[in-house]
Amino acid sequence: MTSPAGIQVRTATDSDWPAIELLDSVAFGYHPTEEDRTLGRALMRTEEVVLATDDGVPIGVAAHLPLKVTVPGGRQLPVRGVSWVSVAPTHRRRGVLRAMFAHLHAGIAATGTPLSALTASEAGIYGRFGYGPATVASDVTLDRRFARFRGDAPDPGGVRAVDATSAALQLPEIYDRWRRITPGAQARPKPHWDYTFADPEANRRGGSALFFLLHPDGYAMFRRRGDDDTRTAVVEELVAVTDGARAALWRALCGLDLMAHVEATVQVDDPLRLMLTDSRLLRTSRVVDDLWLRIMDVPAALEARTYAADLDTVVEVRDPYLDAGGTFTLTVRDGRAQCRPTDASPRISLDLDVLGSLYLGAHRLRPFAAAGRVRAASDRDLARFDSAFVSDRPAVLGWGF
Ligand SMILES: CC(C)(COP(=O)(O)OP(=O)(O)OC[C@H]1O[C@@H](n2cnc3c(N)ncnc32)[C@H](O)[C@@H]1OP(=O)(O)O)[C@@H](O)C(=O)NCCC(=O)NCCS
Repeated sequence: MTSPAGIQVRTATDSDWPAIELLDSVAFGYHPTEEDRTLGRALMRTEEVVLATDDGVPIGVAAHLPLKVTVPGGRQLPVRGVSWVSVAPTHRRRGVLRAMFAHLHAGIAATGTPLSALTASEAGIYGRFGYGPATVASDVTLDRRFARFRGDAPDPGGVRAVDATSAALQLPEIYDRWRRITPGAQARPKPHWDYTFADPEANRRGGSALFFLLHPDGYAMFRRRGDDDTRTAVVEELVAVTDGARAALWRALCGLDLMAHVEATVQVDDPLRLMLTDSRLLRTSRVVDDLWLRIMDVPAALEARTYAADLDTVVEVRDPYLDAGGTFTLTVRDGRAQCRPTDASPRISLDLDVLGSLYLGAHRLRPFAAAGRVRAASDRDLARFDSAFVSDRPAVLGWGF
């Protein structure tokens, strides 16, 4: 792909960092703290940052960093995380992102990783590049003042409040156990933990510093926002390796007597609602996509995860962006798949972004078919494909990158 007239696209060098930070800062409307800078430099290798320039002046940036993501069945796949994507407001909608993405995806393809991933500022941007939303989460608010637990709701206990020093010693090990069994969750590098515990004031959005609740198999981080009647415990992270830990942590959060509300982002099937005598006290304000996936290597990705049912099908995957699709036989026995190119006629036909959405099991196939985004030779083909891709653990983004 050629760049728009007058625009050059190249790999960044170390001297570009101030310009990269300025582009990101203007695009996202924030002033980076020293902690932001330290984190960005620690996560990103300069040779994996793509820069667009106009007459030598940087006007666009996009980068990719190495991640390790759990897929259904528990394998940890190498994934490239696309991040730091922005184009100067003076140069938008001239094809600069497209030109940078051509360079960036060529770099990702060269690494041979089967998946690339991102989190999207707007949902309308990335489908055209083969990315589909692959996790689902809900922003919820609980009116804690009236919340009562049902008599049969678990009450395992075992939670205690700890300070930040103690949390820094214990949380990473719990997170690591959790992310290994959670599709979509990534290994979390130490610089990101350092950033979490540094808890820069600029990121608190008017709230207090973090508080920590610890269970042997889980933890919650929250901050207080508001005063008096508006006091709210804003849960920044709730990680539970076991159902018992999750129940115990919710009990502890609901025990914060002086907080009127508890706000959190939870997986869609979080059991809290089912543990309450009045389930309507937990209100969902927003359903959000977190992690978006692009499958770079269809056979490698499909063979890496496990499946919930046997399957014999032929699937056509269209990738108009990079031509990484094709038609494949997909055979599943005892949870493991074999995926091979074929000339046979497809039973299922879909775009790569839809396959990205199905991959971690967070979305079902039937709504995509109803929306005209999947074609199936028969209803039976649709049902079988759908049943195979279900995952028994909900997919969750581990940390924002
Ligand atoms: C999003 C952003 C990077 C797009 O850059 P850009 O150079 O204007 O994009 P391009 O001109 O290369 O557009 C490429 C395609 O994406 C589409 N597109 C770009 N931004 C879009 C948006 N915000 N919503 C919907 N479509 C968008 C274009 O219409 C074009 O479509 P087409 O080529 O299929 O017809 C830029 O607007 C930006 O920096 N936004 C603020 C920061 C941000 O949101 N970054 C993304 C972080 S995840």
